Amino acid sequence: MTSSFPEGFLWGAATAAHQVEGGNVNNDHWELENLPRSPFAEPSGDACDSYHRWREDMDLVAAAGLTTYRFSLEWSRIEPEEGEFSRAALDHYRRMVDGARERGLNPIVTLVHFTMPRWLMHDGGWTGPKTGDRLARFAEFAAPALTDAEYVATINEPNLMAAQPVLGGMAMRGEPIHGLPRPDQQVADALLGQHGRVREVFRGAGLRTGMTLIGRENIAEDGGEERMRAERAAFEDQFLAAADGDDWLGLQVYTCARFGPDGLVPPAPELQTLAHGMERRPEALGAAVSYAASVLPGVPRVATENGIATADDADRIRFTEDALRALSHAIVGGADVRGYVHWSLLDNFEWMLGYRPTFGLVSVDRETFVRTPKPSLAWLGEVARRNGLD
Ligand code: FCB
Repeated sequence: MTSSFPEGFLWGAATAAHQVEGGNVNNDHWELENLPRSPFAEPSGDACDSYHRWREDMDLVAAAGLTTYRFSLEWSRIEPEEGEFSRAALDHYRRMVDGARERGLNPIVTLVHFTMPRWLMHDGGWTGPKTGDRLARFAEFAAPALTDAEYVATINEPNLMAAQPVLGGMAMRGEPIHGLPRPDQQVADALLGQHGRVREVFRGAGLRTGMTLIGRENIAEDGGEERMRAERAAFEDQFLAAADGDDWLGLQVYTCARFGPDGLVPPAPELQTLAHGMERRPEALGAAVSYAASVLPGVPRVATENGIATADDADRIRFTEDALRALSHAIVGGADVRGYVHWSLLDNFEWMLGYRPTFGLVSVDRETFVRTPKPSLAWLGEVARRNGLD
């Protein structure tokens, strides 16, 4: 069955600053990665050296035939000490926005992709009383560099960020983890407040502003309907409600969540699982997009992340093709979707799991930083050129 996409549909690949830049010595993650008994599998170190090699990265995206590149700003480079702003560091990201445009790529830029400067971690973190003001001030400083971005995201996955402390507690108590739990409400409230603050600043600067959220297919197993609705309300609905009135919404979809009467249940053993113990469920992309469209029909969506950690690139292509068919189906069903951005352009630093999971369309030699495109990059570029699948 052929699947085509709307005219002007964006096709891209994504990265995030801390996962690819390298040498982000001044953020919270670097500090945690390098603790004597760090929970991180390994430190990020030089990552993919994209702080220096971003032109090469964008050349690969453009040469493949893609039209979009998503990347993020690193707050700790731009405001290394509280109130000490670096114009030179911000200029780096302005050059990236310009560099994307020069290559015919539509830049999608995220202000905060999980990391914060060390000084903020030591003075309140995301829930600190001054964090909203500080983030708004950072957004004001950064906004002029982003005027040529196609879409700007305030915060990446606040619903995942708010679930992180809960996950951490479960891991410490040795409880089984079958997916993303209900977020910590204090963190959720803080992040949603901060999204609102940044939105005000960015809107004032004329930027097309939204946030990106984890979306998932929610599946109720026998007797799990009520629990599924309650978890979905906490993990998704309150965040979707906060996106009402935004210019756009990014959805990042990897898998599904299964619920029984007592909460999340693990996928059946025969269902292949991915990095982070996720179920392999490509069709989740269509389901998550359709759900968000039913709750929030007025806000256009971009699938800002979707992908699979696998050493088998042929399986990456199969997974992505199935996900795109489901996405196309959701669009035919009425969901307003403006683009698809694959996670990730590069094999990069996958947070706590280090460099082992490989989500990239391009592999990166860990010593020479030489990039080698995988067949999936050319495949996705071809889908982009045709704006559809056969
Ligand atoms: C998402 C993150 C992204 C990447 C993928 C695999 O939750 O936004 O940085 O790690 O998962």
